[in-house]
Amino acid sequence: MICTVQVPPPFFEWPADEIRRVGRRVVDLVADHITRLRDRPVFQPVPPQLAQELLGDGVPQQGQSADAILDRFASEIGAYPFGNGHPRFYGWVNSPPAVIAVLTDALAAAMNPSVAGGNHAAVWIERQVIGWFKQIVGFPNDSMGLFVSGASAAAVTALSVARHSACAKRGWDVRADGLQSGTGGTLPRLRIYKGAESHGCHQKAVELLGLGASSIRVVPSSGALEMRAEALDAMLREDIARGDIPMAVIASAGTVNTGVIDPLAAIADICERHDVWLHVDAAYGGPALLTQEYEAPLGPMGRADSIAIDPHKWMYVPVDAGIVLVRDAAAMRNTSAVVVPAPSDRILAFWIAGPSAIGSVKGIPSSITSAPAAGKPLRIASEVS
Ligand SMILES: Cc1ncc(COP(=O)(O)O)c(C=O)c1O
Repeated sequence: MICTVQVPPPFFEWPADEIRRVGRRVVDLVADHITRLRDRPVFQPVPPQLAQELLGDGVPQQGQSADAILDRFASEIGAYPFGNGHPRFYGWVNSPPAVIAVLTDALAAAMNPSVAGGNHAAVWIERQVIGWFKQIVGFPNDSMGLFVSGASAAAVTALSVARHSACAKRGWDVRADGLQSGTGGTLPRLRIYKGAESHGCHQKAVELLGLGASSIRVVPSSGALEMRAEALDAMLREDIARGDIPMAVIASAGTVNTGVIDPLAAIADICERHDVWLHVDAAYGGPALLTQEYEAPLGPMGRADSIAIDPHKWMYVPVDAGIVLVRDAAAMRNTSAVVVPAPSDRILAFWIAGPSAIGSVKGIPSSITSAPAAGKPLRIASEVS
């Protein structure tokens, strides 16, 4: 039998001239958006009629030309931004667009790598950037890290390693036996400690990991809204005496509401004394470690077991770009690896270190090495804004 295969027309094969023509239109839209934002109101809601039209649009039955798509972007999407980027969009955690990151995001998309592993450039870039962050926070060379979608995903990843480690130490294989094996009171209760001001993503992470929100103990705050270290110590003593397993303490290096930094050195001492995992949420406060003023209060985050940092906040990288760092690389692998690669491949295999099989590098490296401090020393005086 002879099979004939119909080759479809090359819709996806754009001639170089057409890529350049449409690309220039996109660059014009980017330039107009970024340079003209200041002349517009800070925020304009999407008009109800347009919102209805967007919701009412069924699945498109016809393709559209690139020009029609860009025209529609200009009138229906670019016209109603979130507001960040406007000079009067004051001090919220969503950073304005950084031009170099906007442009390099296009380069990353053009290459479109899966950063699961393998010897291609994006894998080395992720290694390199994770290495920079390890240096910035003072983590050892042999620690591990991953690009994730943000501090929420970082919390799930880090706490999964904390859960694995706390259970493994007690001979409880949580990957094989799950948490259900605790039913019937044969296994002790895992406990998580966090400040009253900590971000809501931590409760979500605890719930997603099957630990139950009731395993969280909220440590009271001082008048300055910092976690009270002596109260944490008392809670840990009480729970250990009862036979519970303190799984992790979550401290904030810049709380979402007020930017307060928990007393990280005192908390790290307590965690060390009780042998409890310390996760530091440095989602947006972390980069302040690069200023002289905040070196002292934020420096002790280098003693943590895991850290979440969001380059998509104070580092001006387009969302979503988060980083999770875990001191104990072996524990991270033991938590997630399904197929263990040969030792020679380990340096390139990110897929064994976290829940996701792939990652993406996006514009992270360019924003960090370029705007706004190109050519400046790493540690900057805090008056530089
Ligand atoms: C202190 C803090 N932690 C965690 C998060 C959650 O981060 P993401 O939205 O990147 O998951 C935020 C977000 O604003 C935050 O400010």
